[in-house]
Amino acid sequence: MTRKLLLDVDPGLDDALAILMALGNDAVDVVGLTTVMGNTTVENTTWNALALLEWVDRTDVPVARGAGEPFADSLVMAEYVHGPGGMPESVREALPEPNTEPIKAHAVEFILEQAREHGEDLTIAAVGPQTNVALAMAIEPALPDTVADVYQMGGAMKTTGNVTPQASFNFYVDAASAARVIERGSPKVVGLDVTEPAYLPTSVADGLREGSDFQRVVADVLDFKAQGPDSTHGFDGSIVSDSVVLAGVLDDEVLGFEEAYVEVDTTGGPSNGATIYDEHGVLDREPNCEVALEVDVERCRDVVVDSINAAEDR
Ligand code: BDR
Ligand code: CA
Repeated sequence: MTRKLLLDVDPGLDDALAILMALGNDAVDVVGLTTVMGNTTVENTTWNALALLEWVDRTDVPVARGAGEPFADSLVMAEYVHGPGGMPESVREALPEPNTEPIKAHAVEFILEQAREHGEDLTIAAVGPQTNVALAMAIEPALPDTVADVYQMGGAMKTTGNVTPQASFNFYVDAASAARVIERGSPKVVGLDVTEPAYLPTSVADGLREGSDFQRVVADVLDFKAQGPDSTHGFDGSIVSDSVVLAGVLDDEVLGFEEAYVEVDTTGGPSNGATIYDEHGVLDREPNCEVALEVDVERCRDVVVDSINAAEDR
């Protein structure tokens, strides 16, 4: 059966690709996008989401605008990674001006409504800072029990961070919300341990550049990502973390999960937002989430590229 998918996003380059993947793949039916600040302001992430839907003729998918600030921390953005406005100018210029508006409901209300409507048929994938999902869970603590799965993009279990030495961007931006979703949401946590090894080599962008106008824009997205911190972090290609989450949602064989006890550092010090992964069970606590520790890299890359390409023809 086709699963219902709600995507909580801050597009963002890898968010944009994750949105295209979800639209291009028959394994899921996208019930809506909720936007959040993160890579850029929520005004920009919402514009980018609406423009992407306009571009691929999918304005039937509702967009609900969400949190403009993290729950407790001040907003830190990643325009230095994703471009001014959350995507490079060449990409924003290639997208049409949106003819649609966000729906009236706030993202948090929309998440709660969709959970009530679809229950166990609904998967939520939150690939930006976790603010909207944490607020929804604060209003309705039973939320995670009523839906199929909550996927989070964030964390670095056995590896190091990407925004500070220890923290991944999404959890760093709103550590309190990330902690809340892990403590109460029994999520599937997909962090840098699996998203970095599954980076897309530059040959993928080179191949796409030979194709259609649509594929050339996707190649621009990948090239911009590859030329930023991904290259200085030692990768010859583009890390597309949110797309790896989507590959895991779309194909059960892509990611391998283990139950684990994880905490998020909310103490505000140099490791704020870091994931404290109890690998050896020294805390003797019950597992509170599942962490992705294995990835079938080739399979993941195939799902990412095939699903993106399929979005062009929808
Ligand atoms: C995550 O942070 C954002 O910059 C990306 O869109 C992704 O969700 C990677 O750490
Ligand atoms: Ca993101």
